[in-house]
Amino acid sequence: MKLCTRLSLLVFALVVAQENPLEPGLPTLRLRYPASAWIEPGTSLLKSHTQSLPIISAMDLDHKATYLLLFVDLDVVYGSTATVALHWYQPNMVATSHKKDDDDNILVNLTVGAEYIAPRPPPNTHHRYVYLLFDQPADYKFPVCFSHIFPPTAEARAGFDIRQFQSVAQLHSPVAGNYFIVHVDDPPSLPLPPSQLTPTTTTSLTTTSLRSAPCQGATTAPVTALSSACESEGWTQVVMSHEGGKGG
Ligand SMILES: *[C@@H]1O[C@H](CO)[C@@H](O)[C@H](O)[C@H]1NC(C)=O
Repeated sequence: MKLCTRLSLLVFALVVAQENPLEPGLPTLRLRYPASAWIEPGTSLLKSHTQSLPIISAMDLDHKATYLLLFVDLDVVYGSTATVALHWYQPNMVATSHKKDDDDNILVNLTVGAEYIAPRPPPNTHHRYVYLLFDQPADYKFPVCFSHIFPPTAEARAGFDIRQFQSVAQLHSPVAGNYFIVHVDDPPSLPLPPSQLTPTTTTSLTTTSLRSAPCQGATTAPVTALSSACESEGWTQVVMSHEGGKGG
């Protein structure tokens, strides 16, 4: 039965692996990493180039507005569940200046959110990393039912439901977004701890959450209770290698 599950996941994965996850027509969020060029949606980046915070241009943004940023990995398997992992939640972002110059005119965070976790896809996988920028309403309040997201751990960050967050935080649709594929360029380090996020591919921003609607009841399902089958190391790596090395 596990094998069947894996085979159907395989077929599915091959079809959707590099699908553009952004809504058609969504303006591109202009950003780059210190070591990269400005990122076109779907670009492939080396993991080593994504370890520090990105530089986000405010050129196409409203200089009087306050923004809220989400950065997620869409292509995660946590235990046996395909899911989304939150890499950065950042409210209170504003433009630094009105200059028409990319280097001066950037979006900065005035406070701490859920700390940036740099991309760390396992070797031989292609994870899609997505930035979504939202207008932050003047009366924005952080939804307390998402209070679990702050530690920079797999347990805290896996199973992030973007649409539910958007809904309970009362955010409108994103005003800009971007995505890229990260390729591992450094040698594999130590073996992954059991709770490490492992690779797969998923379809879209609506991926199943590991948490059962945390904002609708008093309790949240502990993520660890759901990790079980299909944890054998490496099967997705084998699957992914059939796609070839090109991302995007
Ligand atoms: C901005 O966000 C980063 C990444 O999470 C964080 O390390 C930094 O402390 C924040 N800056 C301020 C001024 O809070």
